[in-house]
Amino acid sequence: MKYLSSYFTYVTVIALFFSFQPSSADSHENFVRCLYNYPHITNTISNVVYTQTNSSYSSLLDHTIENHRFSNSSSKPLVIVTPLDVSQIQATIICSQRHGLQIRTRSGGHDYEGLSYVAGVPFVLLDLSNLRQIAVDEENRTAWVQSGATLGELYYRISQKSKTLGFPAGVCATVGIGGHFSGGGYGLMMRKYGIAADNVIDAHIIDVNGNLLDRQAMGEDLFWAIRGGGGASFGVIVAWKVNLVPVPSTVTVFDVSRTLEENATEIIQKWQVVANKLDERIMIRVDIARVNSRQHGKVTIKARFVSLFLGGVEELIPLMQNSLPELGLDRKDCKETSWIGSAVFFNAVLIGTSGNEPPEVMLNRTQLHLWKYKGKSDYVTQPIPVEGLQGLWRLLYEAKVENAQLQFAPYGGRMYEISESEIPFSHRSQYIFHIHYWVTWQEEGDGIAQRHMNFIRREYKYMEPYVSNSPRAAYINYRDLDIGVNNNGYTSYTQASIWGLKYFNNNFKRLAKVKTKVDPKNFFRNEQSIPILSMEEY
Ligand SMILES: Cc1cc2nc3c(=O)[nH]c(=O)nc-3n(C[C@H](O)[C@H](O)[C@H](O)COP(=O)(O)OP(=O)(O)OC[C@H]3O[C@@H](n4cnc5c(N)ncnc54)[C@H](O)[C@@H]3O)c2cc1C
Ligand SMILES: *[C@@H]1O[C@H](CO)[C@@H](O)[C@H](O)[C@H]1NC(C)=O
Ligand SMILES: *[C@@H]1O[C@H](CO)[C@@H](O)[C@H](O)[C@H]1NC(C)=O
Ligand SMILES: *[C@@H]1O[C@H](CO)[C@@H](O)[C@H](O)[C@H]1NC(C)=O
Ligand SMILES: *[C@@H]1O[C@H](CO)[C@@H](O)[C@H](O)[C@H]1NC(C)=O
Ligand SMILES: *[C@@H]1O[C@H](CO)[C@@H](O)[C@H](O)[C@H]1NC(C)=O
Repeated sequence: MKYLSSYFTYVTVIALFFSFQPSSADSHENFVRCLYNYPHITNTISNVVYTQTNSSYSSLLDHTIENHRFSNSSSKPLVIVTPLDVSQIQATIICSQRHGLQIRTRSGGHDYEGLSYVAGVPFVLLDLSNLRQIAVDEENRTAWVQSGATLGELYYRISQKSKTLGFPAGVCATVGIGGHFSGGGYGLMMRKYGIAADNVIDAHIIDVNGNLLDRQAMGEDLFWAIRGGGGASFGVIVAWKVNLVPVPSTVTVFDVSRTLEENATEIIQKWQVVANKLDERIMIRVDIARVNSRQHGKVTIKARFVSLFLGGVEELIPLMQNSLPELGLDRKDCKETSWIGSAVFFNAVLIGTSGNEPPEVMLNRTQLHLWKYKGKSDYVTQPIPVEGLQGLWRLLYEAKVENAQLQFAPYGGRMYEISESEIPFSHRSQYIFHIHYWVTWQEEGDGIAQRHMNFIRREYKYMEPYVSNSPRAAYINYRDLDIGVNNNGYTSYTQASIWGLKYFNNNFKRLAKVKTKVDPKNFFRNEQSIPILSMEEY
């Protein structure tokens, strides 16, 4: 825990040094000068500041852009700062305010709408990818993890210390801790242990005044808000302390496909009724896409049943026989592995590799795909009737897009035990499963992008009768600007509620209260940041 104690030696005295008069010649030169003159900077600041003329600027900007829909954006940061410690973040926050620049904070760069590195205003990119220390305390079953680390790195470091500890977060190894924990973070242990944010027990945030605060110093309201209220509204989170969870030394995974000809529709109908009621040690996700079936030589719909069971195959087979015999799960479909082996497996399902790679692949931050994409989300309160599914299949058949997929993730178990207001992530016992829509493409061109966007919007429209309404709930980590955006600058609470209630339901008001208290001038803002309340609204 060495790096933690060193944090507290750098607590700021900036307020004494800088006065906050607005300066006239606001420019990035002044911002950079301000950084260079900032007191108590520990590492050499000139090593971490990149202006647009720097030869490394472009590669640094691009290195964690995950959605290549935004890799040619004309809205680029004036300056990129890649802090090595807290003092450099504090300086960036203070100097950007002083010189009229906004900040976009980027951890893993997986934001669906590119909000961590694109802004239609002059801004500084605070790229946290150098802050990626992970300290696992296996004795106390906790870990401190810095925001710039990836999920893959966290899983790998845990597995190096213990074969019987894990952490319940997402499946994609390159997702950043900073954005993921801020927005919730679910994976295949969600039914047993909830989401990542449910398991956060402390954090270090730097607020708008440049103060470094731990849980005790920030207070329970702000600590509540950062666990699911979305990144970027309250400050810059440097590190998180989490509870690790027990996992058996042997777990079982499977990835079984069924086409329509193999009764996919019937299996999904049954799945909708049982998946949220199963033993909480099992989670069966369904990935749905149109494929060219080799077997039948024609286009069909394929459902992949992707599953983690926290136990051995001997126990799994009878459990599946009893609950979902329609799937016809066979022992040879199953693979027993370690928990880290399961993480490698699920990441491989996502990126299309074999799944037999060594655990070290979890450390690889290089993207395999340069895909462009658009995603959306929904929550389901009642099983979708068979006509509804069949209409969806027709839509997928007709789609003039190559890669469109849906993912159904069942709730139940631990998700039903946690109250809707425990943390800002409010999607709990109201829902039987979560839908993720995704459409990806690689080709260049506005026409191609538009065709894909049109398709996913049509699909979303089609699904309206079958999903939650008032509000039609959505998941902030699958950020979707179609559901509403803030005005540039001041946005009223009422206007922001259009998207805010979808993400947070009854927690949105409390998030706005916390925001009003901790960042009353709305410095930390973007297209979907939490709004400030006016006197009347408070
Ligand atoms: C391929 C892929 C697979 C995914 N799989 C899953 C999954 O299995 N489960 C799941 O729940 N989600 C999943 N996601 C969604 C993912 O959780 C979100 O995109 C998440 O916000 C990404 O975090 P990041 O740090 O990589 O993103 P970034 O783009 O760096 O940040 C996202 C947002 O958080 C803000 N932010 C980032 N870091 C900080 C910080 N330190 N302090 C304050 N604000 C910050 C950013 O400004 C931005 O607004 C997936 C995404 C992709 C692209
Ligand atoms: C680019 O920026 C880095 C970090 O500040 C610095 O070390 C390097 O000298 C700069 N290179 C050029 C060519 O300006
Ligand atoms: C950016 O645009 C250029 C020119 O249109 C194109 O060649 C390049 O492939 C694009 N980059 C990405 C990552 O899409
Ligand atoms: C576990 O926690 C206790 C109490 O906080 C602490 O004294 C001990 O050092 C911790 N163990 C490790 C390995 O850090
Ligand atoms: C599909 O279901 C029918 C009726 O339940 C059954 O007879 C048939 O064997 C199933 N087909 C497959 C490929 O499992
Ligand atoms: C990391 O992944 C990329 C993309 O999949 C691959 O090209 C590269 O070889 C990998 N690097 C290592 C060290 O495995």
